[in-house]
Amino acid sequence: MMKDFWNDKVVVITGASSGIGEALLKETSRFVCTVFVLARRANEIEEPSSKHKECKIIPIAVDLQDSCSVSDALEILHRETEGIDVLFNNAGITAHGRFDELSMEVYRKTFATNFFGPIQLIQGLLPQLKKKKGRVVTTSTVSALYGIPGRAAYSSSKSALHAALEAMRIELREEGVGSSLVCVPYTETALRKSGLDASGQILDEGQAKAKLKTPEEVALLLMKTAMDREARLVTFDRSGRFVKWMRNLAPGLLEKILHKKLYHDFKN
Ligand SMILES: NC(=O)c1ccc[n+]([C@@H]2O[C@H](COP(=O)([O-])OP(=O)(O)OC[C@H]3O[C@@H](n4cnc5c(N)ncnc54)[C@H](OP(=O)(O)O)[C@@H]3O)[C@@H](O)[C@H]2O)c1
Repeated sequence: MMKDFWNDKVVVITGASSGIGEALLKETSRFVCTVFVLARRANEIEEPSSKHKECKIIPIAVDLQDSCSVSDALEILHRETEGIDVLFNNAGITAHGRFDELSMEVYRKTFATNFFGPIQLIQGLLPQLKKKKGRVVTTSTVSALYGIPGRAAYSSSKSALHAALEAMRIELREEGVGSSLVCVPYTETALRKSGLDASGQILDEGQAKAKLKTPEEVALLLMKTAMDREARLVTFDRSGRFVKWMRNLAPGLLEKILHKKLYHDFKN
């Protein structure tokens, strides 16, 4: 089943140098497909040992915070491929800090990486996506489903992405371009190392004190989602389903729970 879908596909993965993107590369490269891997450190990405010998991996260095760099990456992708089957819109950064302390620079950098860069890239790749009736699968977060205390910049950048890509899906329905938003829970990656604190310094925090998913588990769910054209807003486990339903059914109770559970994350 996996083989039938992934063989001969053209796949683009953003943020393939670490964490979930790296796991996506490991899992997709088991098949006879072409995988474009994008990240600032794209040239440091090593071929997974499990890679199929006929899988082609093509690194493209890009900084999503820099629109000129995204344009350069688009030029390479336009030259290298006529069509794209699956675009894993995965790269992202987190930002931690109270609303009243977050610098505007943190909002700008978070939105540049999580929203403007991806939107520019996806928009620029629409001709290739239309050609193959391709799908955009976004690694989103449970934090996109409600404004999370201590995560105002991160939550808002990801929920903005939801709105733009939902609009895209409806507009491009007749042209067959799909879009799925996968709300991933806590996963064991470098996200909290590379993110930003309220003043814009590197966060360098340890893993969340919660049950963590592995990047491979998440990668397999993202690949499964890519195979389902009807997948829209996908939640992974109870945490996502809980926020998704509670925001409509009982937002007051949801806020009390978020306050209690995340108190230590935002209280001075
Ligand atoms: N880990 C979690 O608990 C969790 C939960 C929910 C959602 N997510 C989402 O999962 C996605 C992947 O993150 P991760 O957890 O795997 O973290 P990660 O290990 O820190 O990986 C982040 C990836 O994004 C790339 N990236 C960051 N800034 C970039 C930029 N300016 N330009 C290009 N690429 C950039 C990084 O590559 P370079 O540094 O080489 O550029 C890296 O490959 C993110 O969108 C995140 O929001 C993660």
